Amino acid sequence: MIDWLIATIPIIKSVHIAGLIIWCGGLLAMPMMLGRHRPADTADDYRQIRHATHMTYTICVTPAAVITVIAGTWLIFLREAFVPWLFAKLAFVALLVVAHAWIGHILAQIAEEPEHHQPPKAIYPVIAALVPMLVILTLVLAKPALDGITFPDWLLEPRGAQLPFDVPSR
Ligand code: HEM
Repeated sequence: MIDWLIATIPIIKSVHIAGLIIWCGGLLAMPMMLGRHRPADTADDYRQIRHATHMTYTICVTPAAVITVIAGTWLIFLREAFVPWLFAKLAFVALLVVAHAWIGHILAQIAEEPEHHQPPKAIYPVIAALVPMLVILTLVLAKPALDGITFPDWLLEPRGAQLPFDVPSR
């Protein structure tokens, strides 16, 4: 691979790690912020807390998630990490994205029914985010061989079939 591309790996990895710290920290902090949504507070306090939670989600946690995913996708190609632990990690990243979307959904419900909506207990979204985080960190830091995971032959061999359109030779 081209030398200058390889030289960018530490930078992209730093961006990936900075992004995931903000993303994961935000996903753990958001449920606690949601816990402060008490309709019994004065209307002004309640509006301020809702506004702060909404801004944290939209201008901090979600962009950090997008940056983490983009930098991680670059790293797959730069590090040529086409290995089973990476695919296992991606399955748990998908679960983390579901937890992210769930927290966003709770926020949207609070915005739509500010007087009536009771957010779920903080512990449920915390667990939904923390479990995939810990599994992802274990996979990426231990990089287990996961040799037991095999793919069917038909996924690994060319099928010899013709594509339904012409592919340019160069
Ligand atoms: C779509 C999302 C993601 C992709 C495509 C991705 C991909 C990658 C790749 C290819 C590497 C380089 C591995 C190597 O150098 O051997 C990496 C490093 C790393 N990733 Fe991710 N990642 C994603 C999300 C996450 C998340 C959500 C976390 C944490 C919760 C995470 C934690 C890490 C850590 C700690 C490293 C550094 C590992 C090391 O240098 O040994 N990643 N990631």
